[in-house]
Amino acid sequence: MKVAFFSTKPYDKTYFNAHNQTQNIVYFETRLNENTCNLTSGFDVVCVFVNDHINRQVIKLLHQHGIKLIALRCAGFNNVDLEAADEYGIKVSRVPAYSPEAVAEHALALILTLNRKTHKAYNRVKECNFSLTNLVGFNVHNKTIGVIGTGKIGQAFCKIMKALGCDVLAYDPYPNQALENSGVNYVELDHLFRRSDIISLHCPLTEQTKHIINENSLKELKPNCMLINTSRGALIDTEAVIKGLKEKQVGYLGIDVYEQEEKLFFEDLSEHIIDDDLILRLIGFPNVLITSHQAFLTEEALNEISKSVLSDISQFEENQELINPVEI
Ligand code: NAI
Repeated sequence: MKVAFFSTKPYDKTYFNAHNQTQNIVYFETRLNENTCNLTSGFDVVCVFVNDHINRQVIKLLHQHGIKLIALRCAGFNNVDLEAADEYGIKVSRVPAYSPEAVAEHALALILTLNRKTHKAYNRVKECNFSLTNLVGFNVHNKTIGVIGTGKIGQAFCKIMKALGCDVLAYDPYPNQALENSGVNYVELDHLFRRSDIISLHCPLTEQTKHIINENSLKELKPNCMLINTSRGALIDTEAVIKGLKEKQVGYLGIDVYEQEEKLFFEDLSEHIIDDDLILRLIGFPNVLITSHQAFLTEEALNEISKSVLSDISQFEENQELINPVEI
């Protein structure tokens, strides 16, 4: 099949080329949107990532160009208009679980870095500054961790935090019995907000979860609470969290995703004037750590992603059921 691959980065090519035997993949660095849809003419499949915007207009154009499958190479699918895809007869696939541990371990990396300030210590020692002033952290052991969303990633994260000797509270409309048996306590959301020293978000972005961290929920938090988001940016109301940081309601913020990341993340903008005052404000806080959507970026995950996407394209080519369909 002819596959138009959008938002390509060097690591995508490395891993897809290593696993691809039969598909004709053309790699485009550009994102897929209304303006770049013309590139899909003559292709059968588009392969897209988290910041490709596949709205109704794009889907209409993809349909006109003969695209029959949108193969997401990520877990989340909030960036695809599924109703429009269904209407135009375009199938959608995703990679539901390429490595939950990769994301869960990155959440832990954010927690430990923010807490023990290893990023600051690294820079100090590079300049032969061996002072320990302002590097005081806290023991994670015995702290209460609130986990919102206990799907694949949330479960992996709960296991890590239990192993560190933490009390783990969780909130999910569909509690997981095995997790409960392992000592994780499911509680109401407001209870989790009030009791947790660290809160980590592992739920998908939906109408119900958008801005789950907002002005009101921030008021409930324990003083000095640490907030971690490796899921989707819009789970947090950015303006509200900035206010919370300024007013010292939020003790630490670690984010791998950002509500307005689309125009920023995955690009080297070091020589550009950044036209986003909110991210600049966030970067300015000493207790905020931002990574640019890299939680998934491990060798294991990249191998799984490419194998899974290529399997679904082959299934589609052979008129077989998709292994990981996304349906409304
Ligand atoms: P999953 O589908 O296995 O689990 C999601 C869980 O959230 C489910 O248990 C569901 O019941 C729960 N949930 C749904 N609505 C909720 C609500 N209102 N409140 C609390 N929980 C709710 O998904 P998985 O694989 O664990 O991924 C979670 C999210 O992580 C994805 O949706 C995606 O946005 C994000 N992600 C981020 C990556 C990164 O590189 N930063 C990589 C992969 C995923």
